[in-house]
Amino acid sequence: MKLNSLEDTFNLSKKIGKLLSNGDVIFLYGEIGVGKTTFVRGLINNFEDQKGMNESQILSPTFNIVFDYAIKELKIMHYDLYRLKNSKDINELGIFAEIENCITLIEWPELIEKKPNNRIELFFSYLEENLDKRKLEIKGQGKWSNYDFEKI
Ligand SMILES: Nc1ncnc2c1ncn2[C@@H]1O[C@H](COP(=O)(O)OP(=O)(O)OP(=O)(O)O)[C@@H](O)[C@H]1O
Ligand SMILES: [Mg+2]
Repeated sequence: MKLNSLEDTFNLSKKIGKLLSNGDVIFLYGEIGVGKTTFVRGLINNFEDQKGMNESQILSPTFNIVFDYAIKELKIMHYDLYRLKNSKDINELGIFAEIENCITLIEWPELIEKKPNNRIELFFSYLEENLDKRKLEIKGQGKWSNYDFEKI
């Protein structure tokens, strides 16, 4: 699908957020600056809005690797694995140890060896005509494999 503006990206992140509950995992793929963190920002801020909380500032966890958010009883883990150079370092993080107790969002998931079965994969790319336009391909894996994300 096409995301023609930031607003489209936020609208979609809201819709996808509504599908999620504990145990769900999203992998976000795509080049630097393509909009992965922006999508996560929309998703988390929307959960906060829904629960009547103030919106947090969603920063990129590039240097910290992970930021976690407590939205009332809901826990969201936001990872950025860009700086990790091998699968061993990633295994040591134990990303999926407590997977059932939170929603897990992962930028730069390429080096993950043991991927959870049930996951939504988002592939962002640039559309050259306009700086604000993006292409997004969504692939559901496991329990999401028959979900029609085009109709979301
Ligand atoms: N349609 C759009 N969707 C998402 N972001 C957009 C869009 N149009 C413009 N942008 C801008 O593109 C930038 C995306 O940056 P962002 O940090 O989200 O990228 P990223 O994919 O997380 O990069 P990195 O790999 O460095 O973590 C932001 O400045 C955002 O405002
Ligand atoms: Mg990012």
